[in-house]
Amino acid sequence: MTNEEFRKHAHHLVDWMADYLNNVSEYPVKAQVAPGEVKSHLPQTPPTRQEPFEAIFDDFERIIMPGITHWQHPSFHAYFPANSSPPSVLAEMLTATLGVQAMIWNTSPAAAELEEQLMEWFKKMMDLPSHWAGSIQNGASDATLNAILTAREKKHNFTTNQTGLTQANLRVYCSEQAHSSIDKAMAIAGLGKNNLIKIPVDEAFALQAEVLEETIAQDVAQGWQPLMVVAAIGTTGTTAIDPLKKIAQLAKKYNLWLHVDAALAGTALLLPEMRWIADGLHAADSFVFNPHKWMFTNFDASVYFVKDKNALLNTFAEHPEYLKTKEDNQVTNFRDWGIPLGRRFRALKLWFVIRSFGVKGLQQKIREHLKLTKQFENWLTAQPHFKLMAPTVLNTVCFRYRNDTLPQPEVNKLNEELLERLNATGKVYLTHTKLNNWFTLRVVIGQTNVNQTHIDILIHQLTKASEQLTIAQQ
Ligand SMILES: Cc1ncc(COP(=O)(O)O)c(C=O)c1O
Repeated sequence: MTNEEFRKHAHHLVDWMADYLNNVSEYPVKAQVAPGEVKSHLPQTPPTRQEPFEAIFDDFERIIMPGITHWQHPSFHAYFPANSSPPSVLAEMLTATLGVQAMIWNTSPAAAELEEQLMEWFKKMMDLPSHWAGSIQNGASDATLNAILTAREKKHNFTTNQTGLTQANLRVYCSEQAHSSIDKAMAIAGLGKNNLIKIPVDEAFALQAEVLEETIAQDVAQGWQPLMVVAAIGTTGTTAIDPLKKIAQLAKKYNLWLHVDAALAGTALLLPEMRWIADGLHAADSFVFNPHKWMFTNFDASVYFVKDKNALLNTFAEHPEYLKTKEDNQVTNFRDWGIPLGRRFRALKLWFVIRSFGVKGLQQKIREHLKLTKQFENWLTAQPHFKLMAPTVLNTVCFRYRNDTLPQPEVNKLNEELLERLNATGKVYLTHTKLNNWFTLRVVIGQTNVNQTHIDILIHQLTKASEQLTIAQQ
């Protein structure tokens, strides 16, 4: 493709992108294709000759688009959002055009220094400790793995990277509701999933600090070495808030690394009135949150802070000859801050987003989402056919269809059916979790452009689907 052809197609694509964003709510929010359907339209072998861009783009519209789930659809209430915004997309266009690989300062000083400065901005925007050191990671899973590896190295005086693990006696603690990325990190770090001890939760699905203390004390008595506790500020299932302050006290008492996973909920710390959810955060050793979830920045952008920068660098720094530069002593080389060497220039989109919204603009949107969530929760609690299943702390409402005459497995089946009916409409997209063995539907209100209209659509669809369910049972 020549540069002139690129210019022509890029103009066309920008128009397509703007139209898409205008009309996204007209698409079925969840892709309605069957497994294998997209692949059945793709040739078995790659093309040997070049193909015109028009043909490629036609196939994008014909084959790919029907298989797209529209995460930027304002009725996307599934999982947690991976929301975006125009300034974020514009920055990504520049990022792709520059094609920067930001592994070290030298490979793009602007990428390194913008990232450094943005981390300072985040500390101010979210009232985080000024001495923390931050970087952008791919995702919260990477950050949690990073934290476990750093804690492991620090515990063993930075010898395990060299010698390998000689004993499997380190233990990590989190709640039963904590994210599966911690299990994965335990496996990858060589600590073993069996050594991730899941602490029971209370009726609000938050970790029980007393049980944590008893468990740690028992483990110490039996010769285990407690290494780390992961506190969740906003669990994936229900956005439960673990009692961070009490956990921080235990971490101090037993000399544990305290990692705080606030993947979604971290964005709420932009609001002074929501900072109670992270009371105790100042004692953390590491903290992660994902602007790529709820802060209008398209995937991927995960912000990770550590208290002890030297421990992090001692864990990850490698100095091969081919990466040495004469500025190494004066600059930040982010390749030393995590697992991959290569890094995308992700700071640019965060910069565009923060400047384009302004802190006040970001706050206003988050407040609006919280208000809509409360309103939806209020509607739900007034409905005899629905039961709220967990406290609504942030932007996630957990509920189920109720039928008090049927046993739990049958009610669960009805709820599965309800979820399928709702998602088959293409008008809304919800996902589920299980709480105390109840199949529970989750509504997350965090898409960038979600507003009152979309809550009305949600209520309408829920009312209709539950009525159909009731009729089908008669
Ligand atoms: C609480 C929590 N932690 C970690 C993760 C993993 O995030 P990522 O996809 O950025 O690795 C998620 C994903 O939803 C999450 O909800």
